[in-house]
Amino acid sequence: MDRQTAENRIEELRNLLNQYSHEYYVLDQPSVPDSEYDRLLNELIQIEAEFPDLITPDSPSQRVGGQVLDMFQKVTHEIPMLSLGNAFNEADMRDFDRKVRQAVGDQYEYVCELKIDGLAVSLKYENGLFVQGSTRGDGTTGEDITANLKTIHSIPLRLPQSLSIEVRGEAYMPKQSFSKLNEQKEENGEEPFANPRNAAAGSLRQLDPKIAASRKLDIFLYSISNTGGVEITSHSEGLDWLDSLGFKTNPERRTCSNMDEVLEYISSWVEKRPHLPYEIDGIVIKVNSYAHHEILGTTVKSPRWSIAYKFPAEEVVTTLLDIELNVGRTGVVTPTAILQPVKVAGTTVGRATLHNEDLIREKDIRIGDKVVIKKAGDIIPEVVNVILDQRTGEEEEFHMPTHCPECESELVRLDEEVALRCINPKCPAQIREGLIHFVSRNAMNIDGLGEKVISQLFAEKLVEDVADLYRLEKEQLLRLERMGEKSVSNLLQAIENSKGNSLERLLFGLGIRHVGAKAAKTLAMQFETMDRLAAATLEELTAINEIGEKMADSIVTFFQQEEVSELIQELKDLGLNMVYTGTRPVVSAEESQSVFFGKTIVLTGKLEQLTRNEAKEKIEALGGNVAGSVSKKTDLVIAGEDAGSKLKKAQELGITVWNEEKLVEELS
Ligand code: IVH
Repeated sequence: MDRQTAENRIEELRNLLNQYSHEYYVLDQPSVPDSEYDRLLNELIQIEAEFPDLITPDSPSQRVGGQVLDMFQKVTHEIPMLSLGNAFNEADMRDFDRKVRQAVGDQYEYVCELKIDGLAVSLKYENGLFVQGSTRGDGTTGEDITANLKTIHSIPLRLPQSLSIEVRGEAYMPKQSFSKLNEQKEENGEEPFANPRNAAAGSLRQLDPKIAASRKLDIFLYSISNTGGVEITSHSEGLDWLDSLGFKTNPERRTCSNMDEVLEYISSWVEKRPHLPYEIDGIVIKVNSYAHHEILGTTVKSPRWSIAYKFPAEEVVTTLLDIELNVGRTGVVTPTAILQPVKVAGTTVGRATLHNEDLIREKDIRIGDKVVIKKAGDIIPEVVNVILDQRTGEEEEFHMPTHCPECESELVRLDEEVALRCINPKCPAQIREGLIHFVSRNAMNIDGLGEKVISQLFAEKLVEDVADLYRLEKEQLLRLERMGEKSVSNLLQAIENSKGNSLERLLFGLGIRHVGAKAAKTLAMQFETMDRLAAATLEELTAINEIGEKMADSIVTFFQQEEVSELIQELKDLGLNMVYTGTRPVVSAEESQSVFFGKTIVLTGKLEQLTRNEAKEKIEALGGNVAGSVSKKTDLVIAGEDAGSKLKKAQELGITVWNEEKLVEELS
């Protein structure tokens, strides 16, 4: 074939393939059988192989996934990728509507859309060519995942007009691809993905685009961040325009003229949701007119012209088979519900924490009961309530034991605590849990030393305290279950490497009461060496903003113990670093703009949408400091349901109190 013929045929093939792709992937109306598409694609690939200089980045042949990348490049979003405020009930929606009306008057429209459960991406086109696709990242900086996005057939590589635009949408994995992928993973003995969102995110964050290509992802576009000079006056017009350019938008959108219609749309989707071929986690409501968007504006985090209505967490019924007791690192004995395994929000759940005896009494939970469970914040399984009218009379009431299930010493209830504790410092369960904590990710971070290995080492008496970890030998480890040469040598290397950890990891790992990872870091930064910290007085400690009396007390008491000084000496002799080697923190722009920045915040009561830990992590990521008790130093108290004494104290001290909704709004 001569060059000119090749050029002509390539052009012809690309046009046909683009047309067929659009019909198949965007319009869902194929006009030719798959085999015809494959035949033409193969022909194109062959001609391009003969004339490689004729390959262009927008050729349909480039969708199959080319070179493996070393890393993803960072992409700065000129227009930040914001998130949305959340609504959880009708009242929240009416509230949103009221604010909109106040700002723009009575003449307005809403567009309702499905909230696709995938991940947000931004697509950039220059002169009609797809040049860059990126993840949202922190909203300002994302990652360049162009090669992976090109494997999504519904993303046009070339637009019908030579436009320079940027559009945004949600990349997702259809339910069917998701279950196939998980079946495959299970067959290969790999860990399945928890939900389609994780699967989509995992696929798009692969450095080898062939993996993304094999994963059958799709996308719905939902906004335009740069129209390239084309005048568009409303959101619905924008979506129609995206359609005309060959993008895939979600067909279920609807324009509503008032909040009642919006609420109707929402409830209709509560019913229809399970029948969709992809997951949604809510409904997004947007004011239609762009002029109204201007008036309403945005906060740092989200536009005031839009809100996401989140569906309530999925609830399922199962049987409570038993209640098991676990003794934690600090001796707290927690009851755990053993459940007839059921699928909830994407994963199979067989256990749920019951927290303490009071909660069991309050909910009147009995062994054998039919219980409703859900995942709090869609992550942590919990028992919502008992279905009382399904009781047979055979159910057994549960009582907390009076003695430790592990070491049989008497359990005690410390002042003001609901929890029962084993206070025997030699309790094997506590020691084992302490070891697990020591090697965990936020502490010494020793890879390959999980719960199972530690439990074995402990049971075999190879490790009785943390110092013993550093005395482990190859032969001892080789004798353990499922430990080969390779894993043993990796493990020994990981243990060796952990000796060089900065002081805060060791401090946190030692499990000093009330000293969390964050406080450990503050202490390490402040005192710089273990010896200086060990010699610190109560006054020196409480002088630090983030250290309260209770923690200071616990630190002083900890270092006064003879066994502790001995242990620290042993660890020193074994070569562990006792010095802070981290850097001083650099404050990111997002952090310093946050309302939480530099503030001391106390969480109290039961949170519904987030777990305590999630809330804490999010607040800390924004530069806030989460404290355990309310004092004059507290800036803000977040009170969940049934908040008790801490809330009262905050009110007495005149400290600002927020409810959970307000917290979630500020965090999103
Ligand atoms: S609009 C300015 N529309 O939900 C914010 N987002 O919680 C633009 N999402 O980050 C977002 N479906 O990843 C919008 N129809 C839809 C959506 C949608 C899913 C995701 C998106 C966003 C998150 C916000």
